[in-house]
Amino acid sequence: MSTTKKITRIAVIGGDGTGPEVTAEGLKVLAAIAQRENISYETQAFDLGGDFYLRTGDVLPDATLAELRKFDAILLGAVGHPDVAPGILEKGLLLRLRFELDQYINLRPVTLYPGVETPLTGKGPDDINFVVVRENTEDLYCGIGGFHKKNTPDEVANQTALYTRKGCERCIRWAFEYTRKRNNPKGKMLTLVAKTNVLTYGHDLWWRAFQDVAREYSDVKADYNHVDACCMWMVKNPEYYDVIVTTNMFGDIITDLGAILQGGMGVAAGGNINPDPGGTSMFEPMGGSAPKYTGQNVINPIAAVGAVAMLLEHNGYPQAAARVMKAIRFVTGSKMKSQAAGKMGYSTSQVGDLVVAAL
Ligand code: IPM
Ligand code: MN
Repeated sequence: MSTTKKITRIAVIGGDGTGPEVTAEGLKVLAAIAQRENISYETQAFDLGGDFYLRTGDVLPDATLAELRKFDAILLGAVGHPDVAPGILEKGLLLRLRFELDQYINLRPVTLYPGVETPLTGKGPDDINFVVVRENTEDLYCGIGGFHKKNTPDEVANQTALYTRKGCERCIRWAFEYTRKRNNPKGKMLTLVAKTNVLTYGHDLWWRAFQDVAREYSDVKADYNHVDACCMWMVKNPEYYDVIVTTNMFGDIITDLGAILQGGMGVAAGGNINPDPGGTSMFEPMGGSAPKYTGQNVINPIAAVGAVAMLLEHNGYPQAAARVMKAIRFVTGSKMKSQAAGKMGYSTSQVGDLVVAAL
């Protein structure tokens, strides 16, 4: 029997704006839980983001990407800089990492924590508790397209949604496995969210792959919603959902709707997962860089702490992850006044301290 203890190697990209502040709180909680649960890990910080780009003209050097591949996980704060045109950092850093590291699952839990206000009247933590599994490497995100006769009255632009059998099938299979493991006491159900009535090629492929894979999971109810109807149900009957599997573009849209149902961007965490053995996954708070709050110690770090819990869960420490989640629930339920920046009743670092104390 080997006595060598696994060391989880984590690359930390604080990134732009408030990214480094919330990441620091996530790492504070990680240090505390690692000590209590006897987890060995090491971190290495990477200077990437808007400032790095403005300084060097490079968003993600190839050598840095090669370095990042060697890590078990990446914790990402935020990308987005007021002096950098939209798309450059998103495409060059975030999307490039998702594609190059083949993080083909974007896992976005929609969980209303105790004490957190949702805009949905009459709904509570029992009603808002589902997970979106978003495909993360294809669709309109693949960057295929171009202009013809640009900046003339005859200009044509096209942007291609690309779907592959391999791409949708591996995502759908992972989502079925996830639904089975989640084992919802209300019943295991995976809802495919797409638009088969209009996207009669690409989403027909998704539909057929979904039907085929569903046959391997007779214990999971295979369900289907058109994406427009899903938006209505998420607001009217969020308790209907257990796990949703969807395409990259629709997944992007419905996960922001999901984030506001769970109290906003200060709370929502996500994982970009490469489930293959040896794959490097990346975990992030969804809040963005929030430039106007930078450096004020007022931004909500709960999403970053949630991202750390996801990182632990997906690196073989489910018990540590559960402890962090329990501490988050305690802090939102009995300490914080609000989840909005500047209105929490505590500073960013105090919220981190509260989570540590609650572990
Ligand atoms: C997300 C974000 C990104 C996306 C942006 C920042 C490119 O909105 O992770 O949901 O569209 O995927
Ligand atoms: Mn999004």
